[in-house]
Amino acid sequence: MFDRFANVWTAVTLAKHLKVGKPLPLEVAGEKIVFFRDEKGHPRALLDRCPHRGVQLSLGKVENGCLECPFHAWKFDGSGAVKHVPLNPDAKRERLFATSFPVREVGGLLWLFTGTGKHCGEPEVPSALTMVGPARTYLEIEWNTHWTRAMENMLDSPHVPYVHAGTIGRFIRPRLRDDSRMDVTWEETAFGGKTHSTVDDDPGSGATLEWYRPNMMVLHIPVPGELFRMHAICVPINATRTRMIIIGARSFATLSLLNPLFNYSNRRIANEDRAVVESSQPLEVPPPREEISVRTDRATLQFRKYYFSTLVGDERREEPDELEEHATTH
Ligand code: FES
Ligand SMILES: [Fe+2]
Repeated sequence: MFDRFANVWTAVTLAKHLKVGKPLPLEVAGEKIVFFRDEKGHPRALLDRCPHRGVQLSLGKVENGCLECPFHAWKFDGSGAVKHVPLNPDAKRERLFATSFPVREVGGLLWLFTGTGKHCGEPEVPSALTMVGPARTYLEIEWNTHWTRAMENMLDSPHVPYVHAGTIGRFIRPRLRDDSRMDVTWEETAFGGKTHSTVDDDPGSGATLEWYRPNMMVLHIPVPGELFRMHAICVPINATRTRMIIIGARSFATLSLLNPLFNYSNRRIANEDRAVVESSQPLEVPPPREEISVRTDRATLQFRKYYFSTLVGDERREEPDELEEHATTH
């Protein structure tokens, strides 16, 4: 299940999309999942396939916090337990289960754990999504690519002056000389990593990105004395589609009237990325040796190392030292 994306927490969509009394079907990493709210309003998630005859549970209805299958009206609670089997009062209900998954509602988002394991822990949620104070804007867009290409784009600083020459890269672009040099640092953190880039040692060109395993980036935009962050979550839908959730958080100009302006800007920047990222072939990032890398690819190579060693975990795994060496030989 959840091919190459198993046993991780991921945000899947905005929590406001899950209404009381209405099932919400979503595809996550190739699996059909149905979300619904239980009798306390808490979000729940089941495999969107009835264990009786395989029907999509999301075609059914939610009543008293239980999900009813549209075929023979079996009722499932949020844990997947069968609460009623019509016409079969003698059914051994305690042996009948739908597959359930841990789900949380934090920071205005629905979070799903892509496994059924008991020891899933809790999702790692960046502070700017939950703290009181900042104004936040939310945007969801679908990209026609594998989530790994989208994630690498979000961790990639050297494209900014070129892809975003008219937006966030417009201050750096005019300062670039033919012999300009970008330096990229990488630091492991408890939740993933942190990368900082500067051009020609100019502090004004600096950009700091945080990576939250497996699929979130937080960009820290320097505004003196203020908080200004952009979060991008690359949610795998399937092998060819990715749901991008883009959340801005700011401690200044917090009037909600201004939200459409900030969202407009985030959408424009995301569309600049989309135009190039959707053209990358193959859609899923290949092992490092199958593409040429250079020194400024440090952050994306770190992501690729994690992806192949942890999520793919197959025979294509390469040793960390090989990756470092590969990145520095060009
Ligand atoms: S297929 Fe769902 S109850 Fe029969
Ligand atoms: Fe970009």
